[in-house]
Order: sequence, then C-alpha cells, then structure tokens
Amino acid sequence: MQEISAMIRFATTDTRRDTGNIKWDLQGPLPFGIADMDIESPPCIVEALQQRLNHHFYGYAFMPHELRETICTYLHNMHGVSAPRSEWLHPLPGCVPAFTLVARAVCHQPEYELMVCTPVYPPMLHCHEDAHCRLLTVPYKNEHERWKFDWDAMEAAVSPNTRMFLLCNPHNPLGRVWDRDELLRLADFCERHNLILCSDEIHCDLVLDEGLHHCSVLTLPERYQKRIVMLSAPSKTFNIAGICFTYMAVPDAELRATIRQVQGHTLPTINVFAYAASLAAYQDGWDWHARLIQALRANRRIVYDFIEQELPMLNICHMEATYLAWIDCSALGVESPHEFFLEKANVYLDNGANFGSPQCLRLNFATSPAILRQGLEAMRNAVQNHLQSAMQGT
Ligand SMILES: Cc1ncc(COP(=O)(O)O)c(C=O)c1O
Repeated sequence: MQEISAMIRFATTDTRRDTGNIKWDLQGPLPFGIADMDIESPPCIVEALQQRLNHHFYGYAFMPHELRETICTYLHNMHGVSAPRSEWLHPLPGCVPAFTLVARAVCHQPEYELMVCTPVYPPMLHCHEDAHCRLLTVPYKNEHERWKFDWDAMEAAVSPNTRMFLLCNPHNPLGRVWDRDELLRLADFCERHNLILCSDEIHCDLVLDEGLHHCSVLTLPERYQKRIVMLSAPSKTFNIAGICFTYMAVPDAELRATIRQVQGHTLPTINVFAYAASLAAYQDGWDWHARLIQALRANRRIVYDFIEQELPMLNICHMEATYLAWIDCSALGVESPHEFFLEKANVYLDNGANFGSPQCLRLNFATSPAILRQGLEAMRNAVQNHLQSAMQGT
C-alpha cells in the first residue's frame, strides 16, 4: 500500500488482484476502466464496518433515522438545499436500479419516450429497455471546448410522448458541472414539455475545479420540485460502490408514492453494513474527502500534461468534476481505440462506443500516480509504434 499523504492510501498493482474486483480481475494488466478508485476508503468507514461486524447479528435493517437526518444536514450544508425533508428520502441498492425504477414508473407505455443527451454513462442508454419505452437521444454540443446542451436539438426532438429527462449531474463522462443557469433552463424545458427531471448526482462531491460548485436540482425553485427526482450516494465520493447504497430524494409525495408502488417487491432491502458505512462517511469522512480532492487534482494534472506533451494527437476535454477523463482519439485513425490500447498497450480504457461515441475513451485516473504514469507511458509507446508503422507503410 502506498501512502501519498497522511490519509490517502493508494493501492499498488498487487493490492486488489484476486479479490473479485471487476477492475483488477477482469480488465487486464493495466486497468483504467469502471468508476472505482484505487484508494482505500476512509478509516472512519473501515472502523464503522468493523464495529458493526463485531455485533454478530446481521438481520433485516431499515434506514436509520440518524442517517436520514445526517443526509439532510449534508444536503443543506454541502449543497445548499434549503430545507430537505427526511421523508423525501428512499433507500435503494444502487443508482442504476434507481433511475431504471424511475424510468419504469414514469415511462410506463410503449409509446412513451425517455430523453437523454449523449455521450453518457452507458446504463442510462439502456434503462428504457427495462421500462419498455422508447429512447430519445440528443447529442451534447462542444462550444469552444466546453460541452453544452443543444437546446435547439432538444426542442426539435421532444414530443408529447416524451415523459422524462434523465440527467447526469455532474456529467459522466464529459466532466461538466452543470451551472445554475443551465439547470434552470433545463427545468423550464421539462416544465414546458411536462417531463419528470431525474438527476443522477452520484458524482456531486467530486468537483475538482476551484470556484465551481455542484448545483443540485433540489436547489431549483419550488415550482419545479413536483417534477424532480434526485439520486445520490456515498459510493463514488468514499469509494464504497460495492457496499450498494443509494438514496432517492423525491420532494413530491404523489410522485414518491408512484415510484414506490412500481418498485413493489422487486429490489432487496439495504443491508446493515451499507447503513453503517454511509453514516460514518457522511458524518466523519470530510477531512479525508478534502485530501481526496487534492489527490485527484494532482492526477488530473498528470493526465493533462502527459497528453499535451506526449500524446498530442489525443484530444482531452477539461474535467471540471469526476475522476474520469474523456479522450477523443479520432486523430489516431484506428477503428476501435479501445481495442487498440488493449491489444497494443495492455491498457484497459472504457470503450466510448458504449457511451455513444466510438472514437472516444474514458480513463479512470483515480489510481496511484505511479500506476497512472505506467498506463500513460504504455499508451504513448503503442501510439509511437503505430505511427512509425504507418509511416513505413507496414
Ligand atoms: C453517473 C453514474 N450513475 C450511477 C453509477 C453507478 O451507480 P450504482 O453502482 O449505485 O448503481 C455510476 C457509476 O459509475 C455513474 O457514473
């Protein structure tokens, strides 16, 4: 285990192998896929889990009142939600099941449409399959190196059958922290077309740019709240995705009841460990979190500098948030950049095709600086060999 700062402990290349981890056991020698950090969770979580484990009784659990209150305090203090209410919150085992459930509740006729802008986190492009409705995709547009909503295209695409807009906020993979004006305009769009606005805010505590702040849909004016569903979790912030806890915040009682009714008995209750870990994270994890942000900023710098100096044909967009870099490899001239780097560099990068952009890759830079450099160097060597072969006509 490599300890870079007093509190941030990075895994080495051996730490996570043979532990049943998707990233390290299924993605080859140098894995930079799936949003899972090579960083130990904060000690407060480990201690809380150990304490819970020592109890020796692991029966059915309900979401503790203290956790509900703690999340409300956190939403207020950290994200400026003026008066979050405990009863808005509904626990679920994951954000993907959560937005899939909302899609099923809202888009419940085959002719209904779910709108999502692309590229985007892949399961958002598939939840309409569970809902048995149609998917309406509208590409984001790149304006002066910054990704924006394409309002004209959205207006052109929306129809009376459209029922829901699914937002990723902050955005995975584009790294945008949507600002208040953008969200107000989106809420206005949803109001005019009578859409539910479901905002997945799982990356909300991972804003890297100083001066930028996550804007939750729960901070939008009161009149929009009846059409809002906000999803969040401690899983990305504190690296506990395998612990499986998400919460859904639905201010409108009727919408909340509809979603819960559609959920029925299809999902398991949350386990005792998830509640213990989440409570510890939101109560005591914030010093660790401040160090995490510093470490992620430093890694973002490594990625930017390396690509600028050594891989200038790759085009990287600025990541305002998240530890996921979105890289356009069009200039490389290969059919599948994902296959190219896997075969020629042993580097696994998430395939942009799954996000709606086949020439792009997503690189998870939440790993030790040493592993990050190793991966980037392997990528550079593969590109150099490729360019040399191309020049020699082989
Ligand atoms: C935007 C977004 N939503 C949801 C998830 C996964 O959520 P869960 O593991 O809670 O289903 C991820 C994981 O990377 C994500 O990036």
